[in-house]
Amino acid sequence: MEVRDRVAVVTGGASGIGRALCRALAAGGAGAVVVSDLDGAGAEAVAAELSGRGTKTLAVRTDVADGDDVAALVSAAADAFGPVDIFCANAGIITIGGVEVLDQDWDRIWAVNVKSHIYAARAVLPSMLERGEGYLVHTASAAGLLTQLGSAPYSVTKHAAVALAEWLSITYGDRGIRVSCLCPQGVWTGMTGAPRGGDGPASEEAPAGRRAADGSDRPSEEMVRGTAGADGMLRPEAVADLVLEAMAEERFLILPHAEVATYEQRRAGDRERWLRGMRTLQRVGLVGEVGVSNYPLARWQAAEKALGGRVLSNQVRYSLADRAPEKDLLPFAAQAGRVVIAYSPLAQGLLSGRYDRANRPANRVRAGNPLFLPENLDRAGELISVLREVADAHDATPAQIALAWVIRHPAVTAIPGASSVEQLESNVAAAEIKLSDNEYAALSTASERFRPVTGRAAVPAMIQARLRR
Ligand SMILES: NC(=O)c1ccc[n+]([C@@H]2O[C@H](COP(=O)([O-])OP(=O)(O)OC[C@H]3O[C@@H](n4cnc5c(N)ncnc54)[C@H](O)[C@@H]3O)[C@@H](O)[C@H]2O)c1
Repeated sequence: MEVRDRVAVVTGGASGIGRALCRALAAGGAGAVVVSDLDGAGAEAVAAELSGRGTKTLAVRTDVADGDDVAALVSAAADAFGPVDIFCANAGIITIGGVEVLDQDWDRIWAVNVKSHIYAARAVLPSMLERGEGYLVHTASAAGLLTQLGSAPYSVTKHAAVALAEWLSITYGDRGIRVSCLCPQGVWTGMTGAPRGGDGPASEEAPAGRRAADGSDRPSEEMVRGTAGADGMLRPEAVADLVLEAMAEERFLILPHAEVATYEQRRAGDRERWLRGMRTLQRVGLVGEVGVSNYPLARWQAAEKALGGRVLSNQVRYSLADRAPEKDLLPFAAQAGRVVIAYSPLAQGLLSGRYDRANRPANRVRAGNPLFLPENLDRAGELISVLREVADAHDATPAQIALAWVIRHPAVTAIPGASSVEQLESNVAAAEIKLSDNEYAALSTASERFRPVTGRAAVPAMIQARLRR
């Protein structure tokens, strides 16, 4: 089914996957999007955002655990925009624990994660069957096909949600009712630690594990790292796009983490082996630490806050030719026991001393780097000659000295590239070089004096250099 001009209702639409679904439906040209959530203000905010972009919307505060509320939601949608074509039963909760979980909590999660889907189908099916078409999208979870380590209520209710979706598809598929069942592993939402009201991080580098900050309704670190987060956390927007694709194809199972299909086959193929494997996973966990790349300090700290634990490393460009991380990343790492991983510690080979104006790199990547402009190679001359001087004193190469300088800083480790075993051995040997304070200071001063032409100022010279080649 194409969503264009269709009337769609999304529960749990105020945040996470539900909000992303609302946005994707609106972007896909839905005739109206009804945003429903227990968090009424949150639903209103999403509806306001979408109507600001020209989509017809309605915000309805609904407790999906209450059948009357769900029926009222469907009536309100139909009164405002006509019969509901698409119902996304997405709201869901997680409760940590096993059989000891209190009855009232079992009842609540059963009502929110399963009965709400029954209430929704009960409310929309009569009109859909009458019209001979309609679409039900049920958000279950990979836990509904496999399991959720550490949460019996989540595993059980999500299995039930999958079972209901399958039953609906089998029973009503020939009468024009389409059903899709969304079964992701980790998605970066309020449920897994992202701030509920705001957006997740702007990049794909959402943390792969988290510590339960409040010990309440969120999965513990082992649960996320053991199953849900093991194959990477996805952004809700990416998941919503896949839902719309599956709807266009009228496909039942939506697996944003493709690996889940293999895990499900293994489970069905050899249940004993699968159970043993899951026990091992529970025992050892998968991810010990998480790291990020190219995060400015504020974002690094924000990631830790969201994670409720440390983000151990931040991989950034750092070398004698690029010392920006010294401003705040290095002091933070040293003081907080974190690690800065310096990539390009030899500035793509500039600090090896192999290049000068007469001997510019042929390699395209290097040639496209303004550091290798003839005038910058001239400017690097002093730094290279100090590197050579220190190298001679240690019977080492300039590259080894440049590496030794980087890793002399507390909390910094380097990952230099190597294209031969010899180069690799030479890099490793650099770890043994102990620079004296004077040598360190001389290198630092020479590096401060190295002022390459970069950014916009380098553009004319880059064009000239390209034309000359
Ligand atoms: N985030 C994940 O890793 C993940 C993985 C698999 C499945 N899921 C499922 O995705 C669905 C959406 O969760 P999310 O990850 O976007 O989390 P989320 O917490 O960001 O969103 C859930 C939304 O549901 C609303 N809600 C909770 N109880 C409700 C109720 N009784 N009535 C109405 N609304 C209610 C919440 O207010 C919230 O806005 C859930 O069913 C969840 O189980 C999430």
